[in-house]
Amino acid sequence: MKLPLPKFLVINPPSHARNFELREDQTTLSYRCESWPSLCAWTHTQRVAKQKRESMDDSTSAVLDAYHERMQLERAQPRTSRQGGKSTDHLMLAVGPDTGRVLNIIAGSLDKPNILELGTSFGYSTLWLADGARRGGGKVTTIEQLEHKSAYAKECIRAAGLEDYVDFMVGDALDTIDALPQKFDLVLVDLWKDLYVPCLDRFYPKLNAGAIIVADNIVRPGGDNARLYQEAVRQKPGMQSILLPVGTGIEVSRFEC
Ligand SMILES: C[S@@+](CC[C@H](N)C(=O)[O-])C[C@H]1O[C@@H](n2cnc3c(N)ncnc32)[C@H](O)[C@@H]1O
Repeated sequence: MKLPLPKFLVINPPSHARNFELREDQTTLSYRCESWPSLCAWTHTQRVAKQKRESMDDSTSAVLDAYHERMQLERAQPRTSRQGGKSTDHLMLAVGPDTGRVLNIIAGSLDKPNILELGTSFGYSTLWLADGARRGGGKVTTIEQLEHKSAYAKECIRAAGLEDYVDFMVGDALDTIDALPQKFDLVLVDLWKDLYVPCLDRFYPKLNAGAIIVADNIVRPGGDNARLYQEAVRQKPGMQSILLPVGTGIEVSRFEC
């Protein structure tokens, strides 16, 4: 039986959603559902995104809301103009609210964690990590190759009142990881996918016992590089790993020792 296609009003559409109409107030999108599973996934995301942020300062929450507005407009663009061989240097390409909250929970659960983020972009995931680091008394070191993205992220983190919890580094992640003296308790891997395995090989010797690694985009866009990363991380000695259906699919791994 063919299901009817309902029409819904949503905000922050999922990246795979289609047929948007941006309303005049620029905050509400009309989105025609293509399947019930995507509707379920989306209503779930909405619920999580709208959760109260009890532990978050008002200034942090305000910057997060601004990021969500920008994300909403970015995701409303047709896919061709986001990916059609053109530069993506202006795009957030952010992990999204579900993965952000997971990162925040993990970071805030660790005691004085040293956190490494590979792929700052405009600082969305950095904000979730930094807020967790604040609660746990830790610090985020975040690496981005593009100066303008890192500068924007730094400004947002300052506006969020989290500047004491983040060190921004501009440069190539592979070279920068090698130069870092500290060991890490949490790593977010979210840069170009062909660098996932080379980066893993570089930061693996710098993991503390019990360290957690979160790698984004394993299911969407997924592909060979994501699969190779999953194989590589699961083969590392002392590593447990599982793919979780959060956001675009995250591989969450724990280094025992
Ligand atoms: C998917 S985006 C990161 C999104 C970000 N984590 C968030 O959730 O807001 C990937 C970023 O990795 C950066 N990047 C790609 N290759 C890199 C490299 N070799 N070294 C440092 N950054 C790199 C890109 O410039 C881009 O900003």
